[in-house]
Amino acid sequence: MLSRALPIATAVALLAAACGDTAVDEVLDTAPATSAAVTTTTQDTAPATTEPPTTSAPTTTTAAEEPEPGATPAPEELPAPEELPAPTTTLPPTEAEGLGDSLYPFLGNGGYDVLHYEIDLDVNPAVNAISASTTIEAVAVEDLETFNLDLSGLQVHSVAVDGSAAEFSRSGHELSIQPANSLTASSAFTVNVVYSGFPEPLDDPGVPFFRSGWTQREGVIFTASEPSGSMTWFPSNNHPTDKATFEIAIVVPEGLVAASNGLLTSETTTGGRTTFVWRMDDPMATYLAAVYIGDFERIDSGLLYEGGPLLRDYVPSDSPPEVVDALAVTPDVITFLEEMLGPYPFDVYGTMVMPFELGFALENQTLSLHGNDTVISWIIAHEVAHQWLGNSVAPDDWSEIWMNEGFATYLHLMFQSAEAGTDFNDDMANLHAQLVGAGIGPPRGIVLEDLFGPSVYYRGAATLHALRLHTGDETFFEILRTHYDRSAGGTTNTAEFLALVDEMAGLDAVDLVESWLYDEAIPDAL
Ligand code: ARG
Ligand code: ZN
Repeated sequence: MLSRALPIATAVALLAAACGDTAVDEVLDTAPATSAAVTTTTQDTAPATTEPPTTSAPTTTTAAEEPEPGATPAPEELPAPEELPAPTTTLPPTEAEGLGDSLYPFLGNGGYDVLHYEIDLDVNPAVNAISASTTIEAVAVEDLETFNLDLSGLQVHSVAVDGSAAEFSRSGHELSIQPANSLTASSAFTVNVVYSGFPEPLDDPGVPFFRSGWTQREGVIFTASEPSGSMTWFPSNNHPTDKATFEIAIVVPEGLVAASNGLLTSETTTGGRTTFVWRMDDPMATYLAAVYIGDFERIDSGLLYEGGPLLRDYVPSDSPPEVVDALAVTPDVITFLEEMLGPYPFDVYGTMVMPFELGFALENQTLSLHGNDTVISWIIAHEVAHQWLGNSVAPDDWSEIWMNEGFATYLHLMFQSAEAGTDFNDDMANLHAQLVGAGIGPPRGIVLEDLFGPSVYYRGAATLHALRLHTGDETFFEILRTHYDRSAGGTTNTAEFLALVDEMAGLDAVDLVESWLYDEAIPDAL
């Protein structure tokens, strides 16, 4: 299963194929029936102790005229290119600027800090089109005459800053905005972008096995945006160092389900169209923002325990019982991980199962994306582990990806071993032998193409086991827990982790971890 040439996604695909999963038939090839206004309101109950979700009607603002009640917006209703504002020529040509990420230098933008995104998406699944508005609440961190957002494809119709029309221009994925009045350092501002079009996933060299972002397949729309693809469907500061809260409102033809991150605060049907409003109240990196649209059934399992996370999953309506049964492991997974890491970081968790094979899963915050080939205990454990390590604690640079994947892999391997009743040290010794046999290189200093490769996942996991064997369980789990606690809700990096290892286990432990992370050769012994 381990090979340089095989990213985990491929390994997972092979494993799933070996398990004989069959593809579920396409579920949505006909437009849903329209009917007179029927209003249903379904809301998530926030876990006890948190305030109840808002009950106000969803406010969805879109650029497009209201379609006929009951009609799905036709592609012709999207503004024709000639109706778009002429690109402004008053701005200097946009340089492809970014935050200087070492693998993705052009992602993200400086000068401001986003606090909140409100994304309103009016979706026409029949033609895979959106008519959308994103409002961003941000704070300027310096005086700004212009600033950039990241948006790939789509047509921008208007930009307003603090309610006043702003000039804008586009170059590649950079949307450059010149507010009518320049912004002063420390001032809060809002920027609204009205846009529409046919979102298309992009080719991200870090994910050679999948096009990143908004994807339509077999009647379903989903987003798999790690690392760069969220800019295929909303304008943002597209880098994990700028986390924010989100409210995502999705309008779809009645009969379809639209799901996203966090709690469902309202579901309202009028004139044959249903608006689902989702709220993510904890900071989230843009790459974890999710949209799922299809013929799904929601499975509610209530709170894990009083004050604990709400558990809800989504499966294709015609899923075989095995799929639903496979999800039943989730409470055990969360309980297992809470013992090591402390309370689950968010209000809610669940798995979103696609009606087809994906070959991978992705830890979209609070509602992980799985193919019907990846609804497997250890993969569920992996995505749940990411909610602590990857999501609550995000990497501050994409070259730090081992801090997501190595940690999640180590935790899923522990769960897998506990579930199977095998000896974990033996399992890790086998893994070590496989890593040596395959000559798997170090997880630090990877090139972009190895972002989701075995160095990051498996040598990353073995690194943690080597540390644990060196320090003993007590110190190791203290390190793990403290690592999470110190950066919960924010970001981290290898240097911070090594500083912690130094603090709790001393320089020899640091040297050991460094040799696992940086030396070309794999250490001979675990
Ligand atoms: N972070 C995911 C995981 O290991 C991998 C996602 C890779 N796929 C993608 N389309 N970005 O669980
Ligand atoms: Zn992962």
